[in-house]
Amino acid sequence: MKKTVNIFPEQKIGTPNPKMWGVFYEEINHAGDGGLYAELIRNRNFADQEVAEGAFYSSGKIRTVKGFTDDFNSNHEPWTPLPGWSLKKTVGAMADMERIYDDPRNPECPVQLRMMFKGKVRLVNKGYWGISAKEGGYHGFVIAKSEDISTAKVGLMKKDGSVVASTLIEGLGAAYKKIDFAFTVTTPDMDTRFFIEVDGSGEIVFDFVSLMPDNAVCGVFRKDLFDMLDGMKPGFLRFPGGCVIEGITLENAIHWKKTVGNIEDRPGHWDLWGYRCTDGMGMLEFCMLGEALGADLMYVFNVGMSCQARNSEYVDGEELDWWIQNMLDGVEYICGDVSTPWGAKRAADGHPEPFNLKYLEIGNENWGEVYWKRFPIFRDLLREKYPDITLISDVRVPNETCDLVDDHYYTTPEIFPSMFDRYSGEGEKVYVGEYACNGNVGYGNLLSAISEATFMTHMENCCDRVRIASYAPLLCNENNRRWPVNLINFDRSGVFGLPSYYVQKLFATNAVEAVVKNDADVVKGSNSNLYITSGIAGDDLIIKIANFNPEAIATEFICDAIKEGDYELTVVSSENETDTNTVLYPRNVADSVDTEKAENGKIKVDISAMSFNVIKVKIK
Ligand code: AHR
Repeated sequence: MKKTVNIFPEQKIGTPNPKMWGVFYEEINHAGDGGLYAELIRNRNFADQEVAEGAFYSSGKIRTVKGFTDDFNSNHEPWTPLPGWSLKKTVGAMADMERIYDDPRNPECPVQLRMMFKGKVRLVNKGYWGISAKEGGYHGFVIAKSEDISTAKVGLMKKDGSVVASTLIEGLGAAYKKIDFAFTVTTPDMDTRFFIEVDGSGEIVFDFVSLMPDNAVCGVFRKDLFDMLDGMKPGFLRFPGGCVIEGITLENAIHWKKTVGNIEDRPGHWDLWGYRCTDGMGMLEFCMLGEALGADLMYVFNVGMSCQARNSEYVDGEELDWWIQNMLDGVEYICGDVSTPWGAKRAADGHPEPFNLKYLEIGNENWGEVYWKRFPIFRDLLREKYPDITLISDVRVPNETCDLVDDHYYTTPEIFPSMFDRYSGEGEKVYVGEYACNGNVGYGNLLSAISEATFMTHMENCCDRVRIASYAPLLCNENNRRWPVNLINFDRSGVFGLPSYYVQKLFATNAVEAVVKNDADVVKGSNSNLYITSGIAGDDLIIKIANFNPEAIATEFICDAIKEGDYELTVVSSENETDTNTVLYPRNVADSVDTEKAENGKIKVDISAMSFNVIKVKIK
């Protein structure tokens, strides 16, 4: 197939938000706990089996009084009172452990682990599907008490029990004490366990145990996963969800005030994707993440409504006032001056400078009259108090306006190409907050990536309407895939991006200042379609091309302004549309860069079958 495309750099058709392409973080698939949050101890406060807030537990399910039911444990592990923890005894030793509530150090965090022992015994933690001990330093702390011993050994061991690294903790006594420790791994092992070894006779009560790698970014984020996010150069960070901000009940929604302060004083909560989460990634950490990535912040808050697709609770009147105040306090925590109560709390937590809060989203996926009625209350209050923050409604509200409205699309491969005119023409301004091709594409492959690329070219062409967009979900621990297709996948030691990751990255790192006209119109049903957006960045012309066909298209781009000489061509493609990446082959389908020659105002290039391409060329 052959095609000619004329580009008209002097005819501007849109001015994109320079930070148009962002990321959307939600605790789903162990995105944070056992993922981006660098904590290595699973069930560090022993609360993993605590029932979901506002619900009850029976026969492996959580249930609400309204009749909603779901798996308590999405990973379907056999029930044990203390997930993650086990005992290893030496010959002749005796030991037992139990989950107790007898003597909480902090009533908000009521669970402890009591271990009774005689002889040499190890309390072992398997981490999140194992602990990959990489070369380097580790640090942590234990909060515990014992009248019977004053020292213990902590460290990492191989599965056969041989010690990889260890140190002593000293000073245990009758009252709870927080004892810091550190050790260094010199010989890496990809599948270790953490242990606390005691020798003697008696009992010890643990309140909290934490272990972090020293190389965690900002002391919080697993480095390889952070680097993947950083590689995308996201324009903004939407947090903390997703359905998780709504909860299955209002009690189960994310209550941000319980996610700040010392980690040992955060109770955590049952995450509606089927596991308990620590809230170690709390309000401050999300803001720090955005800051470290150079991304604008988007805080999505609860409007006094739980997830309507699940259990649908809501409050009104004075009870709604509580949620309004809770939201205002949260916003103040993020960007209030230190002279305000919550700004002062943020300063006390270590960040006096207000964060760059750019967007506020009023609810997540709420709809119907209940939402429509409360939406203007939140909007008007925020507009008055924070006129510079862009407000987002989570759905179109009849007879009301908002700065942006949030649209979500999860779909099959053929749909995005058919949406080539979804945002053409006039209309409300949009944030495409969640989108992915996630049906009939395995866990994500080249086909899904190119399908999304067609839609992204359309969004960029309609950038005066589609101001910002974020793919979803972002992260997935392969041991607990709750959502079929996720952008960045990992296990305890490795990480890979889907082919979609490279498409996302190329859009964000090839942002343009102006989108300019080209004549590559999409003809419905045609095989010769190339989905193209062209734009100017400084003295570069950037052309992004998605070819969603099983055939290559020999294409000639014509533009008088193109300078003679080299141009850069970056391609994401592969032999088969089902090709994808794995932890072992993370760049099987990735971006590869080539340099070619532009001549006489023309670029001739074979656009490979099923590919995404970025051409960057100097213009006069
Ligand atoms: O991205 C996964 C889920 O999809 C989000 O939690 C929710 O907003 C949407 O339904």
